Amino acid sequence: MQSIYTDASVYKLLTPQDDAEHAFMCRLAGDAASILELASGCGNLAARLAQRADVTGVDASPEMVALATQAHGDRPGLCFVQGDMRTLRLERPFDLVMAVDNALQHACTDEALYAALDSIRAHMGPGSRALFQTGLREPETLDTLNHARQKVGSAIDACGVTFEIYGTSTFDPATKVNHRVFEIHKDGAKVAERTLTMRILDSAALQQALARAGFSIARAFDESGQEVEPQARPGPTHAVRTYECRAG
Ligand SMILES: C[S@@+](CC[C@H](N)C(=O)[O-])C[C@H]1O[C@@H](n2cnc3c(N)ncnc32)[C@H](O)[C@@H]1O
Repeated sequence: MQSIYTDASVYKLLTPQDDAEHAFMCRLAGDAASILELASGCGNLAARLAQRADVTGVDASPEMVALATQAHGDRPGLCFVQGDMRTLRLERPFDLVMAVDNALQHACTDEALYAALDSIRAHMGPGSRALFQTGLREPETLDTLNHARQKVGSAIDACGVTFEIYGTSTFDPATKVNHRVFEIHKDGAKVAERTLTMRILDSAALQQALARAGFSIARAFDESGQEVEPQARPGPTHAVRTYECRAG
């Protein structure tokens, strides 16, 4: 079965873009003149950041790189390259490296997570910052991720056609890996099926990994963009955290 990152039209149906979140990321980017965005997907965030900075978006999926390049690639100061966040080495520092919007959740093992954090450090200079994000539930609510097939929403494509989305979710508490299967239906018939596998990286686990990888948290924000105590542990309804870090 194909991943949701192999087909631009299905990806757009399953991942609506969050304007408010992108505005918040632009605010955090501040006066960074060069930005590296890991797992840049369809490139919408990178394009918005490129209004004020030179931006390189990196994504492992050739289809997503093609989609982003087609949609935004002609903007000055913006480019998209194919690469794996675990092994990427562009041999240059950036003012800001971003691993947000579920980027790190695609590192499904500790080994993959630490490799990605090493890559991020490799693209930071003495004054650089990095932004990391958790966007998932805290451990006490993880069982809600495990569900049999159910309707999870509907979506309208660019031509106004409505699709119904059904999902099945299988969560392994030992590895914290959540495997989802989406069915896309049109007029009552299934037209596509896609998978999405992510590790549930809660804020405590991310903080621990950041400390072990040599990052220090300068500021932390909740999902509404309010600054919060970096060490505070969010409750189940406040699980999204963005961390602004320095290397070392
Ligand atoms: C949630 S999407 C990114 C969302 C993006 N901000 C957007 O606006 O479309 C996650 C992306 O991570 C990419 N990805 C998954 N594993 C990756 C890896 N190891 N290295 C780089 N990109 C990866 C996928 O191809 C996908 O495009």
